[in-house]
Amino acid sequence: KHVVVLMGGWSSEREISLLSGRHVGKALEEAGYRVTLLDMDRDIAFKLREAKPDVVFNALHGTPGEDGSIQGLMDLMAIRYTHSGLTASAIAIDKELTKKILTPENIPMPQGCLVERESLYTKDPLPRPYVLKPVNEGSSVGVAIIDESFNDGQPIRKDQIDPWKNFKTLLAEPFIKGRELTVAVMGDKALAVTELCPNNGFYDYKAKYTDGMTTHICPAKIPAEIAEKAMALSLKAHQLLGCRGPSRSDFRWDDEAGLDGLFLLEVNTQPGMTPLSLVPEQAKQLGIDYVALCRMIVEEALA
Ligand code: DAL
Ligand code: MG
Repeated sequence: KHVVVLMGGWSSEREISLLSGRHVGKALEEAGYRVTLLDMDRDIAFKLREAKPDVVFNALHGTPGEDGSIQGLMDLMAIRYTHSGLTASAIAIDKELTKKILTPENIPMPQGCLVERESLYTKDPLPRPYVLKPVNEGSSVGVAIIDESFNDGQPIRKDQIDPWKNFKTLLAEPFIKGRELTVAVMGDKALAVTELCPNNGFYDYKAKYTDGMTTHICPAKIPAEIAEKAMALSLKAHQLLGCRGPSRSDFRWDDEAGLDGLFLLEVNTQPGMTPLSLVPEQAKQLGIDYVALCRMIVEEALA
């Protein structure tokens, strides 16, 4: 079978996607597939038509790639592809929209608000500490924690707005103190819970992709009831959004609040496949190595 690995593109996570894509490509070759790596550009429709894949392995991250647009194009072209389809992708990439769908279904998520970037110069949108992030980015791009001491309690200044200059609207959420957990789902099964312990406190872009900057504890050393709840919520979110193939749900857990302290932050429909990524790590826990995982993802899309 011929697998086209779609990667790169022009999102802010381009480099991560190239890393994911190259690793996936290598693994799929090892698994015996004919593999073509394709860096997404504006001519992607023509390139896909020429490549004539049996299936596309979507290794894109961010917008576009994770947002339903490429999924819609491939639907129109009758090309099979891995991971979630148009609707699930379009919802999950938007953290506010995700909340609107999952909160009424009893999936606890931090209740924040959308704010106009310009309004931040005059007042805080929420009591501190709060988190400010773009609605539709990944890898913690543009995420900031605004704590009590930030600017000595004064609002954000114009010269501090740089990470968000391309966003008119941002999402503000109460900061959940405590611990960072993540759960991968493959098909109809939640794999495991990993706790992320970044050396510098915040699991940001650098902590995510620099070897040695974050300790991953898998399975997480947390009470069984918390692990079970996180896994059940991840599977439920995956199903409610209509996700396909792998997804990864990220959580914060306020360990002083017990079961009520667990909050889903988001569902990632194109979780990273880099050497430091979490879905492969959890699969490995279950005895599924990287090559087998890539094969499973491809075969599910072909089925
Ligand atoms: N957005 C990155 C790739 C992830 O969720 O793993
Ligand atoms: Mg994400």
